[in-house]
Amino acid sequence: MIETINIGTESYEIWMEHGVLQKIDKWVKNFFSGEKILIITDDAVGAIYLGDVKERLKQSGYTTFSFVVQVGEQSKSLGTAEKIYQFLNDNTFDRGGLILSLGGGVVGDLSGFVASTYQRGISFAQIPTSLLAQVDASIGGKTAVNLPGIKNSVGTFYQPSGVLIDPVVLTTLKTEAISEGLAEVIKCGMIQDSSILDEMMDAASFSEIVQEIEKLIIKSIRVKKALVEEDVFDQGMRMKLNFGHTIGHGIEATLGYGNITHGEAVAIGMVKMNQFAIQKGWTPKDTQALLIKLLEKVHLPTDFPKIDLEKVFEAMRHDKKSKSHGVSVVTLDGIGQSRIRSISWEEIKKSLA
Ligand SMILES: NC(=O)c1ccc[n+]([C@@H]2O[C@H](COP(=O)([O-])OP(=O)(O)OC[C@H]3O[C@@H](n4cnc5c(N)ncnc54)[C@H](O)[C@@H]3O)[C@@H](O)[C@H]2O)c1
Repeated sequence: MIETINIGTESYEIWMEHGVLQKIDKWVKNFFSGEKILIITDDAVGAIYLGDVKERLKQSGYTTFSFVVQVGEQSKSLGTAEKIYQFLNDNTFDRGGLILSLGGGVVGDLSGFVASTYQRGISFAQIPTSLLAQVDASIGGKTAVNLPGIKNSVGTFYQPSGVLIDPVVLTTLKTEAISEGLAEVIKCGMIQDSSILDEMMDAASFSEIVQEIEKLIIKSIRVKKALVEEDVFDQGMRMKLNFGHTIGHGIEATLGYGNITHGEAVAIGMVKMNQFAIQKGWTPKDTQALLIKLLEKVHLPTDFPKIDLEKVFEAMRHDKKSKSHGVSVVTLDGIGQSRIRSISWEEIKKSLA
């Protein structure tokens, strides 16, 4: 499948194919005519895929360099970015070079941030290797690093020249990471495309869902594509992708990153937000049973863990999407239909309690 993200002069293609990583040199030639490539990866993904990727690019005549960061959210920092700037500078990279990210959302966000700021912008392309990055993080041009305790607080909008998705790499991903990505797939189904949910319901088990993963990736990409094309800078309709994320971010910040996965927090956030919307009479009740059934099917939680809800609420208020009077949230009009609403802090606090 080749899907174009149509956003004017910054349009780019997503090339998804079983085993396409073997054709990486052909893909790079489509959009890059320079010589030097820096591959940024983390030590887990690098240990499996970096050698092969580097060798293929080398054989096609490119001069390749690699920068390997430690696995985990802590690498998405200004400190790591600075080390990469220095590495680029030491190896005389100029704006004619290319940065290639090879990894999950952490590596993708960090690489995009570095690419958008080094010498005011150097070409950038993404090879997302986690399910979450394939269906979500690699598409849409958001880049970021974290400040201590404040996620994604420094970042840019910077579109890649291309995205290469090889579902084969998902075979080395841990089961929990598959579940995490499926939280975003379920979100895409709930907000925009109910056929995603039908496919997941038709599958007899978690492993049958995984067997059908390529279809689910394509459908989820199309949901994100539609919303990004309509609202590149996240000022309107693109916010629908935040379904469950306001509460989810509150949970993540309260428990501390690393103590709950993003997907788990979003799963709980979707359930709680939907419960709130049902109580308000905005959302039909049957949406909740389906949401819970699907989340359970892919081994995701549907209720708060032991947590101080007051702290969750405070963390939500400090989220960068919050305003002093309240917050924009996404609610369902039905299965596969959603809208953005503004709600006050009093309302959401009452509902959490
Ligand atoms: N830019 C965006 O629009 C956007 C959207 C959603 C999330 N994000 C960001 O994405 C990040 C989360 O992404 P993530 O869940 O991919 O986390 P991650 O990058 O930390 O990857 C998760 C784990 O999977 C491993 N991994 C990745 N691919 C693998 C493979 N093929 N085989 C074996 N192991 C593999 C990684 O080494 C890591 O340990 C967060 O920082 C979040 O803020 C960004």
